[in-house]
Amino acid sequence: MCGIVGYIGNREAGPILVQGLRRLEYRGYDSAGVAVIDNELTRVRAVGKIDNLAEKLKDFNLNGKAGIAHTRWATHGGVTEANAHPHISCDGKLVLVHNGIIENYREIRDRLKDEHKFDSETDSEVLVHLIEDHYNKLESVDDDSRLRKAVETALSHVRGTYGLVAMHSDHSDCLVTARLGSPIVVGVGDSEYYIASDATPMLAYTKKVVFLEDGELAQISKSGFETFNLKDEQIVKCVEEIEWDDEQAQKQGHPHFMIKEIFDQPTVFEDAIRGRYDIQEGTAHLGGLNMTEEEMHKVDRIVLIACGTASYAAMVGKYAFERLAGIPTEVDVASEFRYRDPIINEKTLVFAISQSGETADTLAALREAKRKGAFVRGIVNTVGSTIARETDGGTYIHAGPELAVASTKAYTNMVAIMLLYALQFGRSKRLSLATGQRLLHAMREIPEKMNKIFELNNDIKKLAEKYKNYKDFLFLGRGINFPVALEGSHKLKEISYIHSEAYPAGEMKHGVNALLAEDFPVFALMTKNQLYEKMRSNIEEVRARKTPILLVANIGDEKARELAEDVIYIPPTMELLEPLLNTIPLQLFAYHVAVLLGRDVDRPRNLAKSVTVE
Ligand code: AGP
Repeated sequence: MCGIVGYIGNREAGPILVQGLRRLEYRGYDSAGVAVIDNELTRVRAVGKIDNLAEKLKDFNLNGKAGIAHTRWATHGGVTEANAHPHISCDGKLVLVHNGIIENYREIRDRLKDEHKFDSETDSEVLVHLIEDHYNKLESVDDDSRLRKAVETALSHVRGTYGLVAMHSDHSDCLVTARLGSPIVVGVGDSEYYIASDATPMLAYTKKVVFLEDGELAQISKSGFETFNLKDEQIVKCVEEIEWDDEQAQKQGHPHFMIKEIFDQPTVFEDAIRGRYDIQEGTAHLGGLNMTEEEMHKVDRIVLIACGTASYAAMVGKYAFERLAGIPTEVDVASEFRYRDPIINEKTLVFAISQSGETADTLAALREAKRKGAFVRGIVNTVGSTIARETDGGTYIHAGPELAVASTKAYTNMVAIMLLYALQFGRSKRLSLATGQRLLHAMREIPEKMNKIFELNNDIKKLAEKYKNYKDFLFLGRGINFPVALEGSHKLKEISYIHSEAYPAGEMKHGVNALLAEDFPVFALMTKNQLYEKMRSNIEEVRARKTPILLVANIGDEKARELAEDVIYIPPTMELLEPLLNTIPLQLFAYHVAVLLGRDVDRPRNLAKSVTVE
């Protein structure tokens, strides 16, 4: 939540910062702002999306070669220009952008209020005044380290989380950035440096990055950077190379990131599994598991912790771990996990599953699991993210940058990686070679089958046109299709703002049947798995109530037509792999409904991509 960008070098900072903000807009879009140092400091802020800021900037001449910028997802204080970042000190020389929450901000504000004028209702603004206060006390320091030292001292008085960048007009070749609980990545260019909440804004310029750890701070000029801890001790950091490229972070001719990312799925699925399985042995080799055979055999329970779409992927993972590896598996929504004193011990394997790798609840849950002595591994998309770094191993899902707020390709690849883990565990225990090989052969056919579903895109768009004005939807599935129904319902409400629910179809008669009516369409998954017949009877019951029905069924299932006017026929696959295919028509349906209703598909209201607050 909230995106931060900084630049220092020989080029004009303004356009680089605004372009960077566009890349981070998925992190928040309540307001945005930029500050640049030329001879003096210029700050421009606007409520709403980056376009509003860009429009306003046309009236300014931003010539500076150093600057900072921010896109906000409001937590403390409403959506107003005064609450937008960068915040500025009383003398107008120091500016700051911040991501995170300052828990003791009231206390600090009370302490400073007689000597400082506060212009906003935000927690972040106290930081700029606190740093100013310490900066003024450091008169004896006459070089750029004065700003760094002021930031360090100020941060020692702060409780909470931050990823921040500060800049001072008396130090035009200096940016200071610090991290505690909110990510900061420094991009290393040729006599220029970039700072951002994740690597996407800098992909066009460099792939060399330094990930700051919690409690670290960097002082950056165009000729170099130095890193310190909060005791002002210098530390050495490694420059790492990231694999993502800028092309992946573009819409590539598609109107929205979401549809581009839906269509990415066959390719990124191949990227996820490539080199990670052995068809001969019918098994997977995920080196990141980082466990000996002995440790693997010790595991008597698996707990999958995640939020939102990642938790629906985890529900699919539960099926895979239980069926292939015979290990009891639970799925825990991370925000609930740590508050119910979960039973975790040194025989438990916990997977923290996250696209961003920064979700605050998932991170807190994994820390709790570590504290209790479990094996904790990550299944993460964003390279170098906090979850990836704090787990004792794990696997990157290789979905590439996912920029639409609605997660699509990351879901698919999370499922793919959990299938491979389950196979690896299964083959090390009881699973037969033949079953392992059959699963892998079926996995290799998935990209081609996904492409077949894309041929239905126009038909699904027509269905979206037909159904877009309904006010409520019910998604139904059984067995492995229940998490698919949950994900389909989640996608629809998230981007179209239509109310929808998902139910295991067998549960309907215990209450939800009362909702069935002519104005309450049911979107059901009736593919040919072991629960097919049972699902069919459930749909019969729905049909008897004259409820409009949309079905996802397998090619060749003529009976599906008898049950529903609208059937989306997709290729069949092995039951455990069905979510990899069955979810795609639901993603496309949600996408087209949202577009037809004129919604902001990539940036739905009240949401942000990285949920870094509890
Ligand atoms: C998905 O469409 C949502 N935007 C959201 O539920 C998301 O999956 C959730 O916030 C978890 O995010 P993460 O995968 O980055 O941890």
